[in-house]
Amino acid sequence: MASVRIAPYREFEPIAFSSTARVFVLTGAGVSAESGFSTFRDSGGLWEKHRIEDVATPEGWSRDRALVWQFYAGLRAQAATAKPNAAHHALAALEDEIGDRFFLCTQNVDDLHEKAGSIRIVHMHGELMKSRCERWPGCKQGPFPDTSLTTSIPSCPCGGYVRPHIVWFGEVPIELDRIGDELGACDFFVTIGSSGSVYPAAGFVSVVRARRHRGGARPIAVYVGPEAPDNAESFDECRLGNAGEAVPTLFAAIR
Ligand code: OAD
Repeated sequence: MASVRIAPYREFEPIAFSSTARVFVLTGAGVSAESGFSTFRDSGGLWEKHRIEDVATPEGWSRDRALVWQFYAGLRAQAATAKPNAAHHALAALEDEIGDRFFLCTQNVDDLHEKAGSIRIVHMHGELMKSRCERWPGCKQGPFPDTSLTTSIPSCPCGGYVRPHIVWFGEVPIELDRIGDELGACDFFVTIGSSGSVYPAAGFVSVVRARRHRGGARPIAVYVGPEAPDNAESFDECRLGNAGEAVPTLFAAIR
């Protein structure tokens, strides 16, 4: 196995690529940390204050819908006033520069990438600003934009409850086929601010590294965050630093 280079981000050259190269960016909670959002697993993170079983599983929802709704209502209220940081803006600028050759997959449920101007984006774990009927697809009320800050659970006309459009543990992430296609086509795979502990996202880097690229070269895999993630060994480089500082200088194309 090739060895990973782990060093402060300033010690690396910006990523330069050809006019045909494709870039896949995976973001995690760390990209929103400097916009005021708690991550999940850092000290003081969300999973220290709330039990995953209670607020992020279908079983938790069945047991206590009010608790789950209020948990996400709190996050939604926070997201409503949060502002994108320099990392979100830098990714939107890169997309502006290279268009269809850019693809953004986020594990985050906030809308800070969209607020910064990102368009080619998949929220694989759902979106805070959407809700859906708990009986969907049995009920036709699929995901719909919902910015209401109500703390009581709305009902669906079908008689079910409306639930947050969030992928809970035990549920299947969104748009995995499209994500797989993009993983199969990228020349650069960049993960920003994710501990590398939740699958399938944590395994994307291995999918990319296992693939022999069109001409035989292997796509480059880069991690950006203040510390090396659990899956660091699968990356070519871990560029250590906060996203707000490291991402704006990451790509030669937008410097
Ligand atoms: P984690 O909380 O597991 O990891 C956050 C990562 O962000 C850590 O590796 C931190 O080192 C890093 N970090 C902290 N501050 C940062 C900064 N300023 N800039 C860059 N990185 C920073 O969050 P995720 O890996 O995103 O799933 O978690 C993955 C999934 O687990 C989430 O989508 C969520 C959670 O349970 C669901 O809810 C389904």
